[in-house]
Amino acid sequence: MTMSQMNSPVTPGTLGAELVRRLVQIAGAEHVVTDEESRRIYGRDETEDFLFPPDVVVKPGSAAEIAAILCLASDHGIPVTPRGGGTGLSGGALPVHGGISLSMERLNRILSIDARNCQAAAEPGVTTQRFQEEVEQRGLFYPPDPSSRGTCHLGGNLAECAGGPRAVKYGVTRDYVLGLEAVLPSGEIIHTGAPVLKNATGYNLTQLLIGSEGTLAVITRIQFRLIPLPRFRKVLLVAFDTLEAAATAVAAVFERGITPSAMEFMERSAVKAAEERQGKHFPNGDAGAQLLVEVDGNYEETLTEDIGAIGEVVEAHGALDVLLAEDRQKVADVWALRRGIGEAVKSISAYKEEDTVVPRASLPDLVRGVKEITARHGITAICYGHAGDGNVHVNILKGTLSDEAWTARLDDAVQEIFRLTVSLGGTISGEHGIGYSQRRYLPIAVGETERRLMREIKGVFDPRGILNPGKII
Ligand code: LAC
Ligand code: ZN
Repeated sequence: MTMSQMNSPVTPGTLGAELVRRLVQIAGAEHVVTDEESRRIYGRDETEDFLFPPDVVVKPGSAAEIAAILCLASDHGIPVTPRGGGTGLSGGALPVHGGISLSMERLNRILSIDARNCQAAAEPGVTTQRFQEEVEQRGLFYPPDPSSRGTCHLGGNLAECAGGPRAVKYGVTRDYVLGLEAVLPSGEIIHTGAPVLKNATGYNLTQLLIGSEGTLAVITRIQFRLIPLPRFRKVLLVAFDTLEAAATAVAAVFERGITPSAMEFMERSAVKAAEERQGKHFPNGDAGAQLLVEVDGNYEETLTEDIGAIGEVVEAHGALDVLLAEDRQKVADVWALRRGIGEAVKSISAYKEEDTVVPRASLPDLVRGVKEITARHGITAICYGHAGDGNVHVNILKGTLSDEAWTARLDDAVQEIFRLTVSLGGTISGEHGIGYSQRRYLPIAVGETERRLMREIKGVFDPRGILNPGKII
């Protein structure tokens, strides 16, 4: 955010006193907030420097209250934007048309952990890391692992279908959800799915709501599938001369018959940004690029064998150095640096973030193309991300470019990057969503007929268009 946006007053909310009074009746006075500072906080997420203050922030305490709020909003045509931890990277939680920011922060209970069935139930406002840690204490594992896990919410993870490093072996958020309770814009409360591992009972409404970015319904309860927690993990850091060389080694590891539990890559500038921000150092931080490879499982000897085999593969693909993180502290440090890259890169300058994803073996073509496109347009991009699943975060930095040059160059470059991504069989968001910031690019990846179907689905759920308007389509 620029200094002027940070300091300038936000325009007063326009929701009338009578409607605010009705919201207070539903949620209680201390849970209905209209002061300028709060409206500014809830007017932002982690997406670039956008600021869209809601007229009012409401923090409901139950599905019944949410139903009453949505009925009121439907009756009066008030936009309602659901909000989790506010860590989104495509503007899904930005109230772009004002109205109500519906914060789920008070719905923060883990309702049950069922170790015998490997399941759990939780409300959407539970922080992802807290959920991970509590199920791990019971010997269970919830693999989805976004970098923002310390502050993001499960509900937001579902809304955006968050992924993270472990997706390469374990899949993304949607692969761990069996059922939902959710409130429709009409105020009706629905229940989807069932606490079973197989379900062939009609259309899959659970999966339709996941990734719908809060545009179809407000999720109020989540039934999760978990798995047993693997007992051991080992982490390798592999240095390469170039990003392309690192990318080329990725598919070869799988061809050797190994599925790492994470396979991350970061180019030198991403490593440097994180080092500077955190005052810590990666080994081989000056290498052109690095791979962070993790394997997990129940038998340490098997992991040692896997690590040996991975070492052979990456050396055959030009690795400069292969280092094993020897102890838990080293593993934690390396992961902290990796998780901190996004925030560190952001702090360098104004930026635009893209979330490209291609089939894994096309990763070298993607990174080569991104470098070629950004160089040709005279802009700087820092690439890092989830190499094992072909998901590259391309952060384009404004740096010292004038506002005019930035505006003129950025859009063409982004369009070219996305067209390249799609031509390689990929798509324009792997895990950050379309939300507000990527909406204009959706037609590059999704055809006219498919977009029409999406619009029609939206209309079925939300005929009055009050729920998170201005997003996706
Ligand atoms: C990450 C976030 C930005 O991979 O998706 O760190
Ligand atoms: Zn990511």
